[in-house]
Amino acid sequence: MRSVLSKAAYTEFQSQGFVRTGLMLPEADLDQIRAQYQSMPAALSNWSYFASNAIARPGEPSRKARLKRRLRSLIPGRERPATSPKVYEKSIYGSTELIPVVLRALLERGLKEHLGDASFLAAHDILLEGTKHDHNFGFHDDGFGWDIFFQTGDDITVFIALQDMSEQTGGRLSVERHPEESILFAERNRSIQAFARYCKDQGAGLEDGRVTREGAETCRRRKHIADEYRRMGEERNLRTRQNYRKVEMSTIDMKQGEVILFNNKLFHDVETWKCSSHRSVYIIRCLPLYEMGLCPPQKFLNDVECNRYILDVEAGGVRPIDLETETPTFVACPST
Ligand SMILES: [Fe+2]
Repeated sequence: MRSVLSKAAYTEFQSQGFVRTGLMLPEADLDQIRAQYQSMPAALSNWSYFASNAIARPGEPSRKARLKRRLRSLIPGRERPATSPKVYEKSIYGSTELIPVVLRALLERGLKEHLGDASFLAAHDILLEGTKHDHNFGFHDDGFGWDIFFQTGDDITVFIALQDMSEQTGGRLSVERHPEESILFAERNRSIQAFARYCKDQGAGLEDGRVTREGAETCRRRKHIADEYRRMGEERNLRTRQNYRKVEMSTIDMKQGEVILFNNKLFHDVETWKCSSHRSVYIIRCLPLYEMGLCPPQKFLNDVECNRYILDVEAGGVRPIDLETETPTFVACPST
């Protein structure tokens, strides 16, 4: 995390588990976020697709599974697999044109001061919206997500409150304190790199020497990759069950428009929302361009686009990238 955060931001992250940037997204940008997602029906929620990929269901050959998934999405009301739990009213993952709008607004207001040297793929954005009756994800860490595929242990989540969140309202995010003491911290990059090596050793297809998701899904030994992926998930569930009472958390009060940074590879949680209005948060996931041995896909979940923007920290700008025609410059993954 040292190369993705400034010295001061890293010090804060070390003790609190997050960075309170002090940045406020202006009301006009908040309105733009609200308007964008108001026009997107809850049926576009695609969180549950994390569990529907071919690797998570190795019984189905990947191409067939993908085709079935596409056909399913054409039938109204069948967008989600029937077995998926209802989490949030809207949980929409994509890469909307809000990404450059919001990041540019934050850069203008001083986001760069909080960042280190690394540049990022501004990979995807997420709207999470629900009522006090909806569930949230609960205490968890975001382990290796098959659909996201390219990711690192130092991913930065830019988390923006679309309304106040306090003890009175509930709905506050909490994150693991003292990350360097966390059982997850030391392993967070290594485990992803080890999985990438495993896929390579199984003969997964490569592009420029990096494993592609499609290459792993279609290689001859894909069942071994699926087993390893499932093993990682089971290990994560066990770790969560064993640790959720012991981990010390920071609970974060936020004002409407406030922006914080945290790392989703460490434990986090959301408390119950208490108000009759909706709770909404807008998130941008920024993935440092580390050499992980993995190739960023252009689509994820139910075939929505991702990885379409670069946050160039040195230049202080955001620009579109087409991974079909351009390979970003990857840098060595730091060992600490
Ligand atoms: Fe998460």
